[in-house]
Amino acid sequence: MRLLDGKVAIVTGAGHGIGRGHALELARQGAKVVVNDLGGSVRGEGAGRAADETVALIEKRGGTAVPDYSDVGDAGQCGELVQRAVSAFGKLDILVNNAGIVRDAVIWNMPPEDFDAVIRVHLRGTWATCHHAAKYWRAAAKAAGGKVGGRIINTTSGAGLGGNFGQSGYAAAKAAIVGLTQTLALELLRTGVTVNAVGPAGLTRITATIPGMGEAFEPDEVPEGEFHPMDPSNSSPLVAWLASDEADHVTGQVIRVLDDRIIWMRGWTERATISSGGRRWDAAKLGEVLAQDLFETRGAGLRFAQS
Ligand SMILES: NC(=O)c1ccc[n+]([C@@H]2O[C@H](COP(=O)([O-])OP(=O)(O)OC[C@H]3O[C@@H](n4cnc5c(N)ncnc54)[C@H](O)[C@@H]3O)[C@@H](O)[C@H]2O)c1
Repeated sequence: MRLLDGKVAIVTGAGHGIGRGHALELARQGAKVVVNDLGGSVRGEGAGRAADETVALIEKRGGTAVPDYSDVGDAGQCGELVQRAVSAFGKLDILVNNAGIVRDAVIWNMPPEDFDAVIRVHLRGTWATCHHAAKYWRAAAKAAGGKVGGRIINTTSGAGLGGNFGQSGYAAAKAAIVGLTQTLALELLRTGVTVNAVGPAGLTRITATIPGMGEAFEPDEVPEGEFHPMDPSNSSPLVAWLASDEADHVTGQVIRVLDDRIIWMRGWTERATISSGGRRWDAAKLGEVLAQDLFETRGAGLRFAQS
């Protein structure tokens, strides 16, 4: 018995890179996979049939998959994507939101259209598939008179968790995906659907846009059974486990996978608190109070902004 036998999964942006790795791993674990990919450039321009390549790989390895060419930035097409899983395989158990593009530039050089395009694919694209999957699972739970075991795995990144120079749109979208994940974990708890976010890594088309990183490679180019620290599929075993019935106690979490490490992240936590004793704070005196009692430094200002 494999981890995901009998399950039906959607993986968005599964034509290349990390998403392809997830689709291959979910299929290896027994899931039937809807391989979604719009097939455009790394900047999100154009369209193509990248999904077909991943489907062919899955079938060659004895798995079951169908392609889907929807644009996740289009909420209507996301509804059709969820329906594709149901019409092809009878149901939906697992939604992996992975599709992404980059249009990096420092904020003063970033055209607003590039900000919009990045937010549209990452944030709106994640929200819209979740919206339609949640509708589907709520209706299924109602019909069954109980919980369903749905799974959502979203994709964040180091840029979203800590900021990154030149990625104001991308970082904003990836941080927002964490807020979305935590909110949906609460909203879908009673439906029995878990919602987590993974922060992957790998030398893909996206990372290859960073000067000096080298050429992208696909996860299937790493020989089966071998480990490469920049293999785009290093996070795929974790995604498969989070998608399984074994992970029904894990929700609202953010977990990064960097080379051979799995890192359980902690979010914003209270660091220090001071009280005014029931009086309105005096702005003129606040600098000294903050320096002494909150930041615990003699210098005024946010010297610790990055720590
Ligand atoms: N590569 C890394 O180190 C890294 C690190 C952190 C997070 N991520 C995230 O991992 C995810 C996958 O990125 P990757 O590095 O594998 O890049 P990639 O370019 O190889 O894969 C992204 C895929 O998404 C598809 N896609 C783009 N827009 C789409 C749309 N509107 N609808 C459907 N599909 C669309 C692309 O065609 C592509 O196949 C992204 O969300 C990215 O932000 C990557």
